[in-house]
Amino acid sequence: MTAATQTLAPRETPTIRGLPFVGSLFGMVKGPAQFFVDCYRQYGPVVRLSILGQKYVLIAGVEAATFMGTREGKECLRSKQFWEGLVGEYGATRTLTGEDGETHKQLRDVMRSGYSKESIKGRYNELIEITDRCFTRDWKVGQLVPVVEGMQYMVVDQLGTILTGAAPLEYVKDIRTTILHILNVLVTRQRPKILLKRPVYKKAKARVFELGYKMIAEAKARYATTRPEDRNLIDDIMAAHIETPDVMPASDLIVSLTGPYVAGLDTVANTTAAITYTVLKHPDVLKRVHEEVDALFAGGTIEEEDLLKRIPSLQGAIMETMRLYPIAVAQMRTATKDFLFEGHQIHEGEMIYVGTSVPHFMGEYWPHPEKFDIDRYAKPRAEHMQPGVYSPYGRGPHTCLGKSLAEIQIALSMARLFYKLDLELETPNYKLKTKTAPTPGPAMDFKVRVKGLRH
Ligand code: HEM
Repeated sequence: MTAATQTLAPRETPTIRGLPFVGSLFGMVKGPAQFFVDCYRQYGPVVRLSILGQKYVLIAGVEAATFMGTREGKECLRSKQFWEGLVGEYGATRTLTGEDGETHKQLRDVMRSGYSKESIKGRYNELIEITDRCFTRDWKVGQLVPVVEGMQYMVVDQLGTILTGAAPLEYVKDIRTTILHILNVLVTRQRPKILLKRPVYKKAKARVFELGYKMIAEAKARYATTRPEDRNLIDDIMAAHIETPDVMPASDLIVSLTGPYVAGLDTVANTTAAITYTVLKHPDVLKRVHEEVDALFAGGTIEEEDLLKRIPSLQGAIMETMRLYPIAVAQMRTATKDFLFEGHQIHEGEMIYVGTSVPHFMGEYWPHPEKFDIDRYAKPRAEHMQPGVYSPYGRGPHTCLGKSLAEIQIALSMARLFYKLDLELETPNYKLKTKTAPTPGPAMDFKVRVKGLRH
């Protein structure tokens, strides 16, 4: 072999020898974030593994995170296969998350404005009112409140009221059951298909469709009377259907219109629940947050301009929680073609986990990575600004379209929670238990006590 062919020859890729058939399932179930970090430390940036008989390649580290946004990454990685099951289950032809290339761009263009921060411009005080209403309803003084569930109701109330004018609270449980089954069985494939035959799932799915049909009827009625500049996400999706049905056929309306609930429910609920824990767990942080939010709301209503800059401690706590408790531990993709990554051969059609959260836990980028340190993000430290180290909202063409909206939603919700309520953990030594499916986050039995009202 010549020197040239030697350097070009792909490196040998390690394979994790797990248990027969189940493979690495237990590592994943125990905690995918830690499992991927351990894999990276032991095997390097590329390793093959199997889960329930299905083979995957894990690519991880800053190299993998930055690769997703490169031209080569866009050409080599595709989302379609992972979402096919969901698309089929809705009787749709496609969904934003499962498209690639030009058709993905078309759908993102339809939904960009509706999912943006601008969509709630002028409505921050309304968002605060909705949030307060949720606390009055679900977080009663003297009670132990199940935090994730409380946040789920809050998210549906906020998104529903802002997007459609009414919150479909009676559908929260159905949306959750449907997402749980579809994500677990068809997208992340951590559970067997037989679960989709359960009556509880079938009933919940029928109810989500019922909600979808209502949304279609209302959006159709609004189309004739809403000026293009006044349209919200739901109106934009309906306008795309009426004006360019090849981009948004009737079959794709339900999955697209109920999309914000699927995209926002578990993500924001799990994240806000985790922030509730991290802040209460660190009294010094809680004190700083209290001072900040008391000043923020001192005048009654709030100014929207530069909101996040005016609450640096809370924003630091949010970012630090999203580093340590990422809801998107890895992004799932398929190899569009044969390619080399870090010298390893990846084959067309292979299923890939891109472990974008692995660098979140690496001391090379974050001094004392295990420490909850809310000041990492302020200049001059700005540790998150190093390339590829911080990806709570994903990377590449599918980077969270609701990111800027979610940032405001999370900041306002948490600011209001700590402003209004005097909270404590169940016990001072309480240590958070987490769940992994379908979205990693605090366990459903995580509760906090409402000691009283602060305002
Ligand atoms: C804690 C809050 C959130 C986090 C951490 C988060 C994270 C993510 C991640 C990692 C992705 C990329 C998935 C992939 O590449 O396969 C994504 C996609 C997406 N997110 Fe979020 N998200 C959050 C909240 C929201 C909210 C509130 C909305 C809107 C209501 C939203 C809308 C979307 C949409 C529409 C996509 C699909 C983008 C595409 O495929 O092009 N997200 N999100």
